[in-house]
Amino acid sequence: MENVNLIRHPLIQHKLTYLRKKETNPKEFRELVKELSALMVYEIFRDTKLKEVEIETPIEKTKSYVIDEDIAIVPILRAGIVMAEGILDLIPQARVGYIGIYRDPQTLEPVEYYSKLPTNIENSSVFVVDPMLATGGSASKAITVVKEAHAKKIFFVCLISAPEGIKKIELDHPDVKIYTIAIDEKLNSHGYIVPGLGDAGDRLFGTK
Ligand code: PRP
Ligand code: URA
Repeated sequence: MENVNLIRHPLIQHKLTYLRKKETNPKEFRELVKELSALMVYEIFRDTKLKEVEIETPIEKTKSYVIDEDIAIVPILRAGIVMAEGILDLIPQARVGYIGIYRDPQTLEPVEYYSKLPTNIENSSVFVVDPMLATGGSASKAITVVKEAHAKKIFFVCLISAPEGIKKIELDHPDVKIYTIAIDEKLNSHGYIVPGLGDAGDRLFGTK
């Protein structure tokens, strides 16, 4: 698990508890996903490159700093959308691409149905986001799609991951760093993360 960065913080662990609870309703669930994504970004961007700029305050001119990186957020539909919203609250200058993928419920294989990526992705730091890394099929496919668009600096950001999914990403994309806030025990026979939180898309959008 060399490429995995497990982000831990008391606030994150507290909110994750409510995210997992089955009583949490879709409105609360969406808020938690957004808040957790923003908290993750706070950690992920700790070492981001800055450039010096000169600005003028109401008092005088001064030197200050701004982020010196093109940032692209690429949510995997559907559940990644709400993570992207949380990240955009903190990094509004990021550009956003979308990749539509669902898991075939029988085979658990990823099925891609849509993609629209920002231009200049080859020079951007690209953050592929999805709350769940289960078998890793969807994430691996999405990373392949951004690589085909010539992205070079790619990160995968998820909330809950399974060891199986981490292994797959490390095998298929050893150049991609994974950020997660929980590495759970295993997958069950239906490919759901145990203990996990259930189906992220359904819980976000109230579809079950
Ligand atoms: C969920 C989740 C991931 C995928 C993870 O999406 O949001 O994209 O499953 O599973 P994997 O690691 O085994 O590929 P889902 O397929 O349910 O699609 P949906 O959000 O559109 O319902
Ligand atoms: N997709 C989800 O939404 N949840 C899981 O536990 C596995 C895949």
